[in-house]
Amino acid sequence: MRAVRLHQYGGLDRLTLEQIDKPTINADDILIQVKAAAVNPVDWKIREGYLKDFIPYDLPVTLGWDLAGIVTQVGENVDQFSVGDEVFSRPNIARNGSYADYIAVKADEAVLKSTKLDFAQAATLPLAGITAWQCLVDVADIQPGQRVLIHAGAGGVGHLAIQIAKAKGAIVVATASSTNLELLTQLGADEAIDYAKAPLAEQISPVDLVLDTMGGGIQQSSWSLLKPEGMMVSVVEPPSEETAKQHNVQAAFVFIEPSSRILTELNKLVESDQLRPLIEHRFPLEKIAEAHQQSESGRTRGKIVIDVS
Ligand SMILES: NC(=O)c1ccc[n+]([C@@H]2O[C@H](COP(=O)([O-])OP(=O)(O)OC[C@H]3O[C@@H](n4cnc5c(N)ncnc54)[C@H](OP(=O)(O)O)[C@@H]3O)[C@@H](O)[C@H]2O)c1
Repeated sequence: MRAVRLHQYGGLDRLTLEQIDKPTINADDILIQVKAAAVNPVDWKIREGYLKDFIPYDLPVTLGWDLAGIVTQVGENVDQFSVGDEVFSRPNIARNGSYADYIAVKADEAVLKSTKLDFAQAATLPLAGITAWQCLVDVADIQPGQRVLIHAGAGGVGHLAIQIAKAKGAIVVATASSTNLELLTQLGADEAIDYAKAPLAEQISPVDLVLDTMGGGIQQSSWSLLKPEGMMVSVVEPPSEETAKQHNVQAAFVFIEPSSRILTELNKLVESDQLRPLIEHRFPLEKIAEAHQQSESGRTRGKIVIDVS
């Protein structure tokens, strides 16, 4: 089968499309023929070696940890899937990924995809959607009427977070560059903020929750936007507990874990027309380097899909 593998950390030229054996499955696994994969910033962060202390791989590794496809084999302990099922998954990042014709995934990391999603759409939901749900619902427990600030609302995590927060009844404030303000409104944001126009404090009245997808100066400038007893949740940089105390707010850092429970919740939102992924960039597997370049630009609207087969 074809797979895009990494033999050494580094730049785009380290992405190698090659022929390797199909994965073998364990008793708790399913084998999935990958129809579509999605690219996430973690893919090129891993490629560059930025995360090698955090996730130590025995190279070579197949990259990509978002997918939708068809079950072609089930392990002997698996009773929830049959050959031919159409599934989506954000698998364990420690194993080989989804830039390949086939992937072995633990059965409890996959869920039948909604029939309202094609394979490309379904491939874009798991990683960014689980992340957004873990932050907004599991960690922050957002409530109807709360004001939620979502940074980078036009990006992979942000555009799903806006829709999830709206589905939970929150009032959504989201940031983007001027070119993406209309998109934020289309996604359901109540207030679309141009981060380049003026300091955020001059544009945003206090919020109950900040979803920080940027870190650095953007996280720093967001503390003062929180109401007392509000919460800062970051997916990029652990927020300082000390700073949180000074502002009388809570702080949390989230690193995504695979979750079939959340995939099921995302499916429900899709079924009720409250969640729809946006795909603005599509590449064949052979053009994986261009897909990484797009992700690294920091300007991606919605998601990047790799059409595998
Ligand atoms: N901890 C975890 O488990 C976890 C999970 C998923 C993602 N992440 C991390 O979260 C970050 C975001 O991921 P993603 O997939 O959403 O990235 P992405 O899709 O690449 O984000 C691109 C978006 O960022 C926006 N942006 C750039 N600069 C901005 C700024 N100063 N203010 C507001 N928006 C800005 C861009 O909009 P404009 O062009 O309009 O500026 C663009 O739409 C990445 O660092 C990723 O690694 C962490």
